[in-house]
Amino acid sequence: MIFDSMDFSGHEQVVFVSDVGSGLQAIIAIHNTARGPGLGGCRIRSYSSEKSAAVDVLRLSEGMTWKAALADLPLGGGKSVVMLRDGRPKSPEMMRAMGRAIERLAGRYIAAEDVGATPADMDQIGETTAHVTGRSSDVGDPAPWTAEGVFLSLEAAAAHRLGASDLKGVRVTVKGLGAVGGRLAKRLSEAGAVLTIADIDAERTGRMAEELGAEIVAPEAALATSADVYAPCALGGEFTRETIARLGAKVVCGAANNQLATAEDGRRLADAGVLYCPDYLVNAGGLISVARPAIDMDEPAALKKLRAIPGTLKSVIEQAEAEGEPTSLIADRLARERVEGASGTK
Ligand code: NAI
Repeated sequence: MIFDSMDFSGHEQVVFVSDVGSGLQAIIAIHNTARGPGLGGCRIRSYSSEKSAAVDVLRLSEGMTWKAALADLPLGGGKSVVMLRDGRPKSPEMMRAMGRAIERLAGRYIAAEDVGATPADMDQIGETTAHVTGRSSDVGDPAPWTAEGVFLSLEAAAAHRLGASDLKGVRVTVKGLGAVGGRLAKRLSEAGAVLTIADIDAERTGRMAEELGAEIVAPEAALATSADVYAPCALGGEFTRETIARLGAKVVCGAANNQLATAEDGRRLADAGVLYCPDYLVNAGGLISVARPAIDMDEPAALKKLRAIPGTLKSVIEQAEAEGEPTSLIADRLARERVEGASGTK
């Protein structure tokens, strides 16, 4: 009944956790461990139903498998959700119980921060298991790493599509000026890009526009603004049949997760002549940083992986052009090949 009602995608193991003492109810999904333990965030929030929590954790854990593979990390895909029920807040007891459940998986899943979780939560999980990263003593905020990976990718994509030897005078619209988008906008401005920025936080947008000499556009108009590059750094799901028809740029390269509403939208972007830089490839800098303690990777080795992202992007683009296929499809295929190669099922 469960196998038929859920959208499993080759998941190795899904664990339902219940701890009566603390009130913890959680799901841990391990999608694939062929390349290494499944690392992924522990999302802490209330869900409208158990099913929506299960759908979330299955989808997100699978995404981690492909993201880690494209970043060439010795990691697989996993994710967990802590379901907050009946308005009950999270508690240290719940986190310790979560740690015990993770410990029972003997290192097949490594927890990290995610929506609703903080380094303090990871510290509490870490009281009962060693299989956790993102603690307050670990490497710190992943956002600068994510921003740098997106910046390097954007540079590579602009060079490829616009023949631009650098970003001087390249017109970039950045939507979402948070931890990643704010840093990306600064980096682009330093590189001489002509910036248009948008965020629902008008105060932040005004401050950054002044600081960076950027134009401001309303968030709902950002996508259609004429530019060389559009960098979505707010929420996912932006590209649909309808929005692709209005897109004002010929290159898309941003940090937001799950930018394509459906896989078909990757093809629609390609058909519209847009160079789409697959989100989970270009935004892997944060994962590379978070993975460091878990796989004992020093900073120079992590920086090497970060700086390899634009090279992987370039080969995805070249392959896509050679085959007349969307970059999203080529990236998915490369990720699958890497995982299949590691599991010896090729
Ligand atoms: P954040 O929460 O710090 O920033 C998001 C920004 O987007 C905020 O300034 C918010 O006001 C703005 N925003 C929200 N809705 C908007 C809308 N409709 N129009 C315009 N602006 C809007 O988040 P963060 O960390 O910067 O992440 C941004 C995106 O990148 C998210 O999709 C996240 O999942 C993704 N990402 C982040 C990573 C990281 O290391 N922080 C790693 C990989 C992906």
